[in-house]
Amino acid sequence: MAKIMWEGRFSKSPDKKLNDFNSSIRVDGRMYESDIEGSIAHAEMLAECGIISSEDRDVIIEGLKEILADIESGKVKIDPESEDIHMFVEALLTERKGEAGKKLHTARSRNDQVATDVRLHLRKEIDRTEKNIIDFMKVIVDKAEEYADAVMPGYTHLQRAQPVTFGHHLLAYAEMLKRDVGRFADAAKRMNYSPLGSCALAGTTHPINRAFTAAELNFDGYCANSIDGVSDRDFCLEIASACSICMTHLSRFAEEIILWCSWEFKFLELDDAYATGSSIMPQKKNPDIAELIRGKTGRVNGNLVALLTLMKGLPLAYNKDMQEDKEAIFDSLDTLNDCLEIFAPMLATSKARKDNMLRACREGFINATDCADYLVRKGVPFRTAYKICGRIVAYCIERGKTLENLSVEEYASFDPIFDEEVYEAVDMLNCVSRRKSSGAPSEKEVKGEIASLKAFIDKFSVKKENGLI
Ligand code: ARG
Repeated sequence: MAKIMWEGRFSKSPDKKLNDFNSSIRVDGRMYESDIEGSIAHAEMLAECGIISSEDRDVIIEGLKEILADIESGKVKIDPESEDIHMFVEALLTERKGEAGKKLHTARSRNDQVATDVRLHLRKEIDRTEKNIIDFMKVIVDKAEEYADAVMPGYTHLQRAQPVTFGHHLLAYAEMLKRDVGRFADAAKRMNYSPLGSCALAGTTHPINRAFTAAELNFDGYCANSIDGVSDRDFCLEIASACSICMTHLSRFAEEIILWCSWEFKFLELDDAYATGSSIMPQKKNPDIAELIRGKTGRVNGNLVALLTLMKGLPLAYNKDMQEDKEAIFDSLDTLNDCLEIFAPMLATSKARKDNMLRACREGFINATDCADYLVRKGVPFRTAYKICGRIVAYCIERGKTLENLSVEEYASFDPIFDEEVYEAVDMLNCVSRRKSSGAPSEKEVKGEIASLKAFIDKFSVKKENGLI
């Protein structure tokens, strides 16, 4: 078992149960790289400020780099008995490099260390998440392009409402995801200040240089108040909410996929590789992935509530409660990324059933507004037109007719202003192509939206390649 760091003050070793209960290494072990990066910057700063010698700095940095390489190659296994990754790395460094290793923790506390490590780690996690969102957006935009002319009913209250296209409908999700990227980017920006040098809570008497470590670690500056530096977990709350909002989008999309795959809709066919069968019902093809994405949203929302509840009663500054932050935020990010990584190929390989979509358009009178708009174009006030069309729909329902197959005489019996042109007005394809207002489903508008989303995706990829975000 690892040696107890605080043995000088204590006359007994910790109880085994306490040790397990207190330990967070199973959760924070994954931050080893960020921990080592933070320690290297700290050692550089200590030497720069004359707090340790340059020889000690070199020994420390060499030791830290060796530890990183050994963990990465599997030569060193992270010890589950250690309290946390910070203790583990420091103990191993001291074991390997002796006196120099013991100097690393000068002018530092695990409180500013962990706050720094989590930020460094989450910065990388945000990068991974943004990339996955962008990759998913690409799939959606490509699908939207493929189905820019696939007319389907748009719904309100899950009742057929007005005609849109499948492409137009899909793009609504691309817009949500675009905002999600923005939310993660905003959170990353606000988080990007270095807590290092806050020490336990009250800074230090050593002549440190906080701007130095902040710059070394690519932070935009350092936390202005040492107490805030170690107490703040706003960034976890923000990232957890960004995860929840993004999962909510995925969950709504998943719900629609589930509906579309049902026999009642049959708007979408999933590829066999992304669907599952039943152990008893031979006919079944189930959208398990979509259901799981919808289900996992519950856990991600739970993590957000767990974090908010964790923080709400904590006096300043550090409290051990805060160790719980990582389990929640890592789980939210892992879950979101897993969902994005599986949703993208599931959607990419799916096929829309244009025939069924169009068939569904033929029922439900989704061209009733267009019929009213036709009267408006002939000078009838909208409210009057709305009433006339309402009566026509009731008439059709009674007789099992549709607006497309009503005779002109029947139309005229409701208002003599009706003529042959009404058929053109209620034709389903025309109903879509006429919807030319900005952001509406006409093919031209949809193509324009696709172009601007593609530009967003390209701009993001170029920025990422150049390390600008
Ligand atoms: N494992 C701890 C955490 O994640 C590190 C900080 C411990 N600091 C302390 N004073 N006990 O929060």
